[in-house]
Amino acid sequence: MPKSSEQALPDHLWRPLTQHQGLQGRPNHFMVEAKGCYITDQNGKRYLDALSGLWCVNVGYGRRELADAAHAQMSKLPYLNPTLTAEPVSAFADSLQETLGIRGHVYFSVSGSEANETAIKIARQHHLQSGASGQRRFKIISRYRAYHGNTMGALAATGQGERKTGYEPGPPGFLHVMPPYPYRAHAKLSLEEHGEDCAHNLEEAIIHEGFETIAAVIMEPIISGGGVLIPPDNYLPRVREICDRYGIVLIFDEVVSGFGRTGSLFGHQHWDVQPDIITFAKGLASGYMPIGATVAREGIFDSFLGEA
Ligand SMILES: Cc1ncc(COP(=O)(O)O)c(C=O)c1O
Repeated sequence: MPKSSEQALPDHLWRPLTQHQGLQGRPNHFMVEAKGCYITDQNGKRYLDALSGLWCVNVGYGRRELADAAHAQMSKLPYLNPTLTAEPVSAFADSLQETLGIRGHVYFSVSGSEANETAIKIARQHHLQSGASGQRRFKIISRYRAYHGNTMGALAATGQGERKTGYEPGPPGFLHVMPPYPYRAHAKLSLEEHGEDCAHNLEEAIIHEGFETIAAVIMEPIISGGGVLIPPDNYLPRVREICDRYGIVLIFDEVVSGFGRTGSLFGHQHWDVQPDIITFAKGLASGYMPIGATVAREGIFDSFLGEA
Protein backbone atom coordinates (compact mmCIF):
# COMPACT_ATOMS: atom_id res chain seq x y z
CA MET A 1 0.00 0.00 0.00
CA PRO A 2 1.69 3.27 -1.05
CA LYS A 3 1.84 6.11 1.49
CA SER A 4 -0.83 8.77 0.87
CA SER A 5 1.92 11.16 -0.32
CA GLU A 6 2.72 8.75 -3.13
CA GLN A 7 -0.84 8.04 -4.21
CA ALA A 8 -1.53 8.86 -7.83
CA LEU A 9 -4.70 10.75 -8.70
CA PRO A 10 -7.62 10.53 -9.72
CA ASP A 11 -8.72 13.14 -7.24
CA HIS A 12 -12.31 14.27 -7.62
CA LEU A 13 -12.06 17.32 -5.41
CA TRP A 14 -12.62 20.70 -7.11
CA ARG A 15 -11.08 23.44 -4.95
CA PRO A 16 -12.03 27.12 -5.16
CA LEU A 17 -9.62 29.75 -6.55
CA THR A 18 -7.20 27.02 -7.61
CA GLN A 19 -5.93 26.24 -11.11
CA HIS A 20 -6.12 22.46 -11.40
CA GLN A 21 -4.27 22.12 -14.70
CA GLY A 22 -0.88 21.64 -13.09
CA LEU A 23 -2.31 19.41 -10.35
CA GLN A 24 -3.62 16.66 -12.60
CA GLY A 25 -1.74 13.41 -12.12
CA ARG A 26 0.42 14.76 -9.31
CA PRO A 27 0.37 13.19 -5.86
CA ASN A 28 -1.89 14.89 -3.37
CA HIS A 29 -0.43 17.09 -0.68
CA PHE A 30 -2.67 16.60 2.34
CA MET A 31 -2.82 18.76 5.44
CA VAL A 32 -3.58 16.48 8.36
CA GLU A 33 -3.86 18.46 11.60
CA ALA A 34 -3.54 21.86 13.20
CA LYS A 35 -2.82 23.31 16.62
CA GLY A 36 -2.74 26.95 17.65
CA CYS A 37 -1.66 28.80 14.52
CA TYR A 38 0.27 25.93 12.86
CA ILE A 39 -0.96 23.41 10.29
CA THR A 40 0.92 20.14 9.78
CA ASP A 41 1.03 18.24 6.49
CA GLN A 42 1.22 14.49 5.83
CA ASN A 43 5.01 14.58 5.98
CA GLY A 44 5.06 16.21 9.39
CA LYS A 45 6.07 19.63 8.06
CA ARG A 46 4.60 22.54 10.03
CA TYR A 47 3.31 25.73 8.42
CA LEU A 48 2.49 29.01 10.15
CA ASP A 49 -1.09 29.77 9.10
CA ALA A 50 -0.56 33.50 8.92
CA LEU A 51 -3.95 34.04 7.26
CA SER A 52 -5.76 32.22 10.07
CA GLY A 53 -7.63 29.95 7.62
CA LEU A 54 -9.41 32.50 5.46
CA TRP A 55 -9.42 35.22 8.15
CA CYS A 56 -11.56 33.03 10.34
CA VAL A 57 -9.81 30.81 12.91
CA ASN A 58 -9.74 33.65 15.43
CA VAL A 59 -9.18 31.46 18.51
CA GLY A 60 -6.72 29.11 16.82
CA TYR A 61 -6.84 25.42 15.94
CA GLY A 62 -7.17 22.48 18.31
CA ARG A 63 -9.57 23.88 20.91
CA ARG A 64 -10.77 20.75 22.61
CA GLU A 65 -13.67 22.48 24.38
CA LEU A 66 -15.23 23.48 21.05
CA ALA A 67 -14.99 19.95 19.66
CA ASP A 68 -16.47 18.57 22.90
CA ALA A 69 -19.39 21.04 22.86
CA ALA A 70 -20.15 20.17 19.22
CA HIS A 71 -19.94 16.45 19.98
CA ALA A 72 -22.28 16.75 22.97
CA GLN A 73 -24.88 18.73 20.99
CA MET A 74 -24.66 16.51 17.91
CA SER A 75 -25.20 13.45 20.06
CA LYS A 76 -28.27 15.02 21.65
CA LEU A 77 -30.02 17.08 18.95
CA PRO A 78 -27.96 17.48 15.76
CA TYR A 79 -30.52 19.38 13.67
CA LEU A 80 -33.75 21.21 14.19
CA ASN A 81 -36.09 22.71 11.65
CA PRO A 82 -35.20 26.42 12.13
CA THR A 83 -38.83 27.43 12.60
CA LEU A 84 -38.56 25.59 15.94
CA THR A 85 -36.09 26.54 18.66
CA ALA A 86 -33.84 25.02 21.30
CA GLU A 87 -32.05 26.42 24.33
CA PRO A 88 -28.49 26.52 22.83
CA VAL A 89 -29.46 28.54 19.76
CA SER A 90 -31.62 30.89 21.79
CA ALA A 91 -28.79 31.43 24.32
CA PHE A 92 -26.35 31.99 21.45
CA ALA A 93 -28.59 34.76 20.02
CA ASP A 94 -28.92 36.37 23.47
CA SER A 95 -25.20 36.36 24.13
CA LEU A 96 -24.41 37.71 20.64
CA GLN A 97 -26.70 40.69 21.03
CA GLU A 98 -25.42 41.30 24.56
CA THR A 99 -21.80 41.23 23.35
CA LEU A 100 -22.71 43.58 20.53
CA GLY A 101 -24.58 46.01 22.73
CA ILE A 102 -27.25 46.51 20.05
CA ARG A 103 -30.82 45.64 20.94
CA GLY A 104 -31.90 43.40 18.14
CA HIS A 105 -32.77 39.98 16.80
CA VAL A 106 -30.38 37.45 15.34
CA TYR A 107 -31.06 35.42 12.18
CA PHE A 108 -28.64 32.51 11.79
CA SER A 109 -27.38 31.07 8.53
CA VAL A 110 -24.31 29.13 7.43
CA SER A 111 -21.87 31.58 5.83
CA GLY A 112 -20.93 35.23 5.45
CA SER A 113 -22.39 35.30 1.95
CA GLU A 114 -25.70 34.04 3.24
CA ALA A 115 -25.62 36.46 6.18
CA ASN A 116 -25.28 39.30 3.66
CA GLU A 117 -27.99 37.91 1.37
CA THR A 118 -30.24 37.82 4.42
CA ALA A 119 -29.34 41.41 5.35
CA ILE A 120 -30.19 42.62 1.84
CA LYS A 121 -33.51 40.78 1.86
CA ILE A 122 -34.39 42.08 5.33
CA ALA A 123 -33.61 45.66 4.25
CA ARG A 124 -35.80 45.42 1.14
CA GLN A 125 -38.70 43.78 2.94
CA HIS A 126 -38.40 46.21 5.85
CA HIS A 127 -39.01 49.13 3.48
CA LEU A 128 -41.88 47.34 1.82
CA GLN A 129 -43.54 46.79 5.19
CA SER A 130 -42.81 50.14 6.79
CA GLY A 131 -42.51 52.66 3.93
CA ALA A 132 -45.06 55.39 4.61
CA SER A 133 -45.23 56.20 0.90
CA GLY A 134 -45.42 52.54 -0.12
CA GLN A 135 -42.34 53.35 -2.19
CA ARG A 136 -40.49 50.31 -3.54
CA ARG A 137 -36.92 50.76 -2.30
CA PHE A 138 -34.75 48.04 -3.75
CA LYS A 139 -31.32 49.40 -4.74
CA ILE A 140 -28.28 48.39 -2.74
CA ILE A 141 -25.22 50.63 -2.65
CA SER A 142 -21.87 49.11 -1.82
CA ARG A 143 -18.30 50.07 -2.59
CA TYR A 144 -15.60 49.21 -5.06
CA ARG A 145 -12.89 46.96 -3.60
CA ALA A 146 -15.34 45.52 -1.04
CA TYR A 147 -15.95 41.78 -0.79
CA HIS A 148 -19.32 40.58 0.45
CA GLY A 149 -19.39 36.95 -0.66
CA ASN A 150 -19.79 34.56 -3.53
CA THR A 151 -23.53 33.90 -3.81
CA MET A 152 -25.17 35.95 -6.55
CA GLY A 153 -26.57 38.79 -4.39
CA ALA A 154 -23.47 39.09 -2.21
CA LEU A 155 -21.31 38.91 -5.33
CA ALA A 156 -23.36 41.67 -6.94
CA ALA A 157 -22.63 43.82 -3.87
CA THR A 158 -18.95 42.90 -4.08
CA GLY A 159 -16.92 45.66 -5.72
CA GLN A 160 -14.13 43.59 -7.27
CA GLY A 161 -14.82 43.16 -10.99
CA GLU A 162 -12.38 40.29 -11.45
CA ARG A 163 -14.35 38.12 -9.04
CA LYS A 164 -17.48 38.40 -11.19
CA THR A 165 -15.95 37.62 -14.59
CA GLY A 166 -17.63 34.56 -15.98
CA TYR A 167 -20.80 34.86 -13.91
CA GLU A 168 -22.25 38.15 -15.13
CA PRO A 169 -24.78 39.60 -15.53
CA GLY A 170 -25.65 39.54 -11.85
CA PRO A 171 -28.98 40.56 -10.37
CA PRO A 172 -30.05 44.18 -11.07
CA GLY A 173 -30.29 46.91 -8.44
CA PHE A 174 -26.70 46.96 -7.16
CA LEU A 175 -24.43 49.98 -7.54
CA HIS A 176 -21.02 50.97 -6.24
CA VAL A 177 -19.20 54.06 -5.04
CA MET A 178 -15.52 54.54 -4.24
CA PRO A 179 -14.41 53.83 -0.65
CA PRO A 180 -11.87 55.96 1.16
CA TYR A 181 -8.40 54.79 0.22
CA PRO A 182 -6.02 57.15 2.02
CA TYR A 183 -2.89 55.76 0.36
CA ARG A 184 -4.21 56.52 -3.14
CA ALA A 185 -6.13 59.67 -2.24
CA HIS A 186 -5.39 62.94 -3.95
CA ALA A 187 -2.17 64.23 -2.37
CA LYS A 188 -3.67 67.68 -1.78
CA LEU A 189 -6.46 66.31 0.43
CA SER A 190 -6.07 65.88 4.16
CA LEU A 191 -7.38 62.60 5.61
CA GLU A 192 -10.47 64.39 6.82
CA GLU A 193 -11.09 66.02 3.46
CA HIS A 194 -10.69 62.63 1.77
CA GLY A 195 -13.24 61.10 4.16
CA GLU A 196 -15.62 63.98 3.50
CA ASP A 197 -15.09 63.69 -0.25
CA CYS A 198 -15.97 59.97 -0.27
CA ALA A 199 -19.03 60.54 1.92
CA HIS A 200 -20.09 63.35 -0.41
CA ASN A 201 -19.78 61.00 -3.41
CA LEU A 202 -22.02 58.51 -1.67
CA GLU A 203 -24.61 61.20 -1.05
CA GLU A 204 -24.41 62.35 -4.70
CA ALA A 205 -25.01 58.78 -5.88
CA ILE A 206 -28.04 58.52 -3.58
CA ILE A 207 -29.48 61.80 -4.86
CA HIS A 208 -28.89 61.01 -8.53
CA GLU A 209 -30.29 57.47 -8.25
CA GLY A 210 -33.36 58.83 -6.43
CA PHE A 211 -33.06 58.36 -2.69
CA GLU A 212 -36.53 56.83 -2.51
CA THR A 213 -35.26 53.87 -4.57
CA ILE A 214 -32.34 53.03 -2.24
CA ALA A 215 -32.98 50.26 0.29
CA ALA A 216 -29.56 49.91 1.90
CA VAL A 217 -25.91 50.81 1.98
CA ILE A 218 -23.68 47.86 2.82
CA MET A 219 -20.05 48.23 3.82
CA GLU A 220 -17.26 46.59 5.77
CA PRO A 221 -16.12 49.07 8.45
CA ILE A 222 -12.61 48.24 7.27
CA ILE A 223 -12.35 46.74 3.79
CA SER A 224 -10.46 43.49 4.25
CA GLY A 225 -10.02 41.26 1.18
CA GLY A 226 -9.86 44.36 -1.03
CA GLY A 227 -6.65 45.58 0.59
CA VAL A 228 -7.25 46.45 4.27
CA LEU A 229 -8.47 50.00 3.77
CA ILE A 230 -8.94 51.92 7.01
CA PRO A 231 -11.28 54.88 6.56
CA PRO A 232 -10.58 58.38 7.90
CA ASP A 233 -12.25 58.95 11.28
CA ASN A 234 -14.98 61.21 9.92
CA TYR A 235 -16.13 58.82 7.17
CA LEU A 236 -18.37 56.26 8.91
CA PRO A 237 -20.10 58.87 11.12
CA ARG A 238 -20.84 60.84 7.90
CA VAL A 239 -22.19 57.69 6.21
CA ARG A 240 -24.48 57.14 9.21
CA GLU A 241 -25.73 60.73 8.96
CA ILE A 242 -26.41 60.38 5.22
CA CYS A 243 -28.29 57.09 5.64
CA ASP A 244 -30.42 58.67 8.37
CA ARG A 245 -31.13 61.71 6.21
CA TYR A 246 -32.52 59.59 3.36
CA GLY A 247 -34.11 56.79 5.38
CA ILE A 248 -31.63 54.19 4.13
CA VAL A 249 -30.75 51.03 6.07
CA LEU A 250 -27.06 50.89 6.97
CA ILE A 251 -25.57 47.39 6.95
CA PHE A 252 -22.12 46.69 8.34
CA ASP A 253 -20.48 43.51 7.09
CA GLU A 254 -18.32 42.41 10.02
CA VAL A 255 -17.66 38.95 8.59
CA VAL A 256 -13.92 39.62 8.78
CA SER A 257 -13.63 42.67 11.05
CA GLY A 258 -15.78 41.12 13.82
CA PHE A 259 -14.53 39.23 16.85
CA GLY A 260 -11.29 40.93 17.65
CA ARG A 261 -9.53 41.02 14.32
CA THR A 262 -8.90 44.78 14.31
CA GLY A 263 -8.04 45.54 17.92
CA SER A 264 -11.57 46.20 19.13
CA LEU A 265 -14.15 43.46 19.47
CA PHE A 266 -16.01 44.73 16.39
CA GLY A 267 -14.64 46.88 13.59
CA HIS A 268 -17.35 49.54 13.79
CA GLN A 269 -16.55 50.18 17.46
CA HIS A 270 -13.44 52.12 16.43
CA TRP A 271 -15.80 54.89 15.35
CA ASP A 272 -18.73 54.52 17.69
CA VAL A 273 -21.21 54.26 14.81
CA GLN A 274 -24.19 51.94 15.11
CA PRO A 275 -25.50 50.18 12.00
CA ASP A 276 -29.10 49.05 11.48
CA ILE A 277 -28.07 45.55 10.44
CA ILE A 278 -24.80 43.80 11.08
CA THR A 279 -23.53 40.54 9.60
CA PHE A 280 -21.11 37.94 10.95
CA ALA A 281 -19.61 34.59 10.04
CA LYS A 282 -15.97 33.40 10.12
CA GLY A 283 -14.77 34.44 13.64
CA LEU A 284 -18.28 33.89 15.05
CA ALA A 285 -17.46 30.17 15.32
CA SER A 286 -13.78 30.51 14.53
CA GLY A 287 -14.19 28.23 11.53
CA TYR A 288 -15.14 25.27 13.75
CA MET A 289 -18.68 25.39 12.34
CA PRO A 290 -20.12 27.07 9.26
CA ILE A 291 -22.23 29.70 11.05
CA GLY A 292 -23.37 33.10 9.79
CA ALA A 293 -25.53 35.63 11.59
CA THR A 294 -27.51 38.70 10.60
CA VAL A 295 -28.43 40.97 13.49
CA ALA A 296 -31.22 43.49 12.88
CA ARG A 297 -31.85 46.26 15.40
CA GLU A 298 -35.23 46.37 17.09
CA GLY A 299 -36.89 48.94 14.78
CA ILE A 300 -36.14 46.79 11.74
CA PHE A 301 -37.33 43.59 13.43
CA ASP A 302 -40.52 45.34 14.56
CA SER A 303 -41.53 46.05 10.97
CA PHE A 304 -41.89 42.26 10.52
CA LEU A 305 -44.42 41.95 13.33
CA GLY A 306 -48.04 41.60 12.34
CA GLU A 307 -50.95 39.24 11.95
CA ALA A 308 -49.84 35.61 11.54
C1 LIG B 1 -16.03 40.90 4.34
C2 LIG B 1 -16.57 39.57 3.90
N1 LIG B 1 -17.89 39.41 3.81
C3 LIG B 1 -18.45 38.24 3.45
C4 LIG B 1 -17.65 37.16 3.12
C5 LIG B 1 -18.28 35.88 2.69
O1 LIG B 1 -18.17 34.93 3.70
P1 LIG B 1 -18.27 33.37 3.35
O2 LIG B 1 -17.03 33.01 2.61
O3 LIG B 1 -18.41 32.72 4.69
O4 LIG B 1 -19.50 33.18 2.52
C6 LIG B 1 -16.26 37.28 3.20
C7 LIG B 1 -15.38 36.13 2.89
O5 LIG B 1 -14.18 36.22 2.81
C8 LIG B 1 -15.69 38.52 3.57
O6 LIG B 1 -14.37 38.71 3.62
